[in-house]
Amino acid sequence: MKETNIILMGPPAAGKGTQSELIVKNFNIPHISTGDLFRAAISNKTQLGLLAKSYIDSGKLVPDEVTVGLVEEVLAKDECKKGFLLDGFPRTTKQAEALDNLLKKMNKSLTCVILLVADDQVLIDRIANRRVCPKCGNSYNLLTKKPQKEGICDSCQTALEQRKDDNPESFKVRLDSYHNETEPLIKYYKDKKLLAEVDALQEINQVYEAVKKVIEG
Ligand code: AP5
Ligand code: MG
Repeated sequence: MKETNIILMGPPAAGKGTQSELIVKNFNIPHISTGDLFRAAISNKTQLGLLAKSYIDSGKLVPDEVTVGLVEEVLAKDECKKGFLLDGFPRTTKQAEALDNLLKKMNKSLTCVILLVADDQVLIDRIANRRVCPKCGNSYNLLTKKPQKEGICDSCQTALEQRKDDNPESFKVRLDSYHNETEPLIKYYKDKKLLAEVDALQEINQVYEAVKKVIEG
């Protein structure tokens, strides 16, 4: 069977996590979000979490060696044999090159790289209204994806919170790092004829329809 190996890229709050939820359900592949993995490590107070915390809270990128090592560990797992969805990795040219080497070693190739395109002002509004579940990681929006019961996670009934890095100062750092360090990957993957752009300003389900078309080729 053909593997489905996807990278989902886009600025902070473009909707990577939201689209990932829909993609992994439909295509039955594991969701690998480096942001989620770091947040889980922080809440479990592991060595990795202790290292990542100050970077994440301030909006800075975690060093490449650490992030690449983490992804390498996850991609080696059996559950990634039939495919994977990388959300928020790679974010630097170094990470993209390391991923290329890793996939080559594993005799795998990418199916596509999907770029969610949105302008900065919309992202700032989405961040202000995002609420997340600290237990299961589900993400909501006070305007566009409300939980059924105000302030409570639909899946596990836990009280929703704001992410620590969802404040104007950290958000500006995240956005700057996207423009400076991650945007060069657009050309990197365009040159490899893997990149497809999707307008992330549409409604969640419309974005998903466009994403699905790209994956199905
Ligand atoms: P990460 O967790 O990946 O954060 P991010 O890239 O800043 O992206 P977000 O998770 O904030 O946004 P999203 O695109 O997932 O949007 P969402 O679907 O939630 O990374 C966090 C940190 O970890 C980084 O800053 C860095 O420190 C570190 N890190 C992670 N990866 C790294 C790497 N590779 N290298 C180094 N460091 C790394 O949607 C946002 C909101 O909008 C939600 O409320 C949602 O409901 C709403 N929404 C979504 N889509 C729509 C729509 N179409 N219409 C209306 N509302 C929508
Ligand atoms: Mg996310």
